[in-house]
Amino acid sequence: MKRIGMLTSGGDCQALNATMRGIVKGVCNALDEVELYGFEEGYKGLIYGNYRMLTPRDFSGILTKGGTILGSSRQPFKMMRVPDENGLDKVEAMKHTYHKLRLDCLVILGGNGTQKTANLLREEGLNIIHMPKTIDNDIWGTDMTFGFQSAVDIATDCIDCIHTTAASHGRVFIVEVMGHKVGQLTLHAGIAGGADIILIPEIPYSIDSICKAIEARNKQKKGFTILAVAEGAIPKERAEMSKKDLKKFMETYKYPTVSYEIADQLTKRLGTEVRVTVPGHTQRGGSPCPYDRVLSTRLGAAAAQAIVDDAYGCMIGIVNGECQRIPLEESAGKLKFVDPNSSIISEAKMIGISFGD
Ligand code: F6P
Repeated sequence: MKRIGMLTSGGDCQALNATMRGIVKGVCNALDEVELYGFEEGYKGLIYGNYRMLTPRDFSGILTKGGTILGSSRQPFKMMRVPDENGLDKVEAMKHTYHKLRLDCLVILGGNGTQKTANLLREEGLNIIHMPKTIDNDIWGTDMTFGFQSAVDIATDCIDCIHTTAASHGRVFIVEVMGHKVGQLTLHAGIAGGADIILIPEIPYSIDSICKAIEARNKQKKGFTILAVAEGAIPKERAEMSKKDLKKFMETYKYPTVSYEIADQLTKRLGTEVRVTVPGHTQRGGSPCPYDRVLSTRLGAAAAQAIVDDAYGCMIGIVNGECQRIPLEESAGKLKFVDPNSSIISEAKMIGISFGD
């Protein structure tokens, strides 16, 4: 008999359900007796003991269903050691729930912050398996996270739609893509959507370079320009500021996001019409794409095998096409940034994409 707990934490994405389905199908095929406990709304459910007992039927027909049947919430890692408003020690509470239910392991689906808490629970002696979820594809140690390719499809569709209207009106368009710290999603959607300028946090931009790239296109009578801009794109002058100065600067920042700042600057500098489109949370919504369905099913099956083998304290990732168990202590707390010197950046530059650097 194995008692398995599961929770989904942090921002949702496509393929959370597909991954849980893979895990449950895998363990139920391999083991005679399994009890499944689903914690509601991420770590909250574990802290406050909100769970429901699940059966394999609950995981039937959810391969294509977006969101998460367990619900999710953001419980910042830095707050985990801070008692809640009633003085409850959250870490002790999570351990208590785990032991009270006599769980053999806890499978945690989530991104970077979630992974840090998963590692903390491992350090506290719980049997943990982490599944790398995020549209940002920024988890260190796995080549791919589930949700990423589905989000690339949606952001690319958005850029595709903008292309036709930008061309008709001869306008400059900014499509703002999700990703505050890491630009993987913007980079891939930008290339897939044929953006002319791609701005990501890892390559600080100068507005002069962006203007030059637009003027060069105008000279070639291209008529319109599309920028794919990550939420976390940053101008060079701000990237060089100390954290303290940056924080102070942002206190009086007047734009809703950096895209609107760039739009304002371009309008003033070039006297041109600029429009901003923000697909926002649509990038995390809807059904997982076929790639993510396959990835999630594979990762789920590999997690099931880890449970059968009692191999805990790891993230189930994919490296060079193979599912692997990556020790949590190696991965937790590290981000997988876009390397400005990587070949994908040189290849994009080779075909004339500007990064505003
Ligand atoms: O981490 C996933 C992500 O979608 C980021 O790309 C985005 O910046 C953030 O979450 C949005 O968070 P929220 O759902 O809290 O608005």
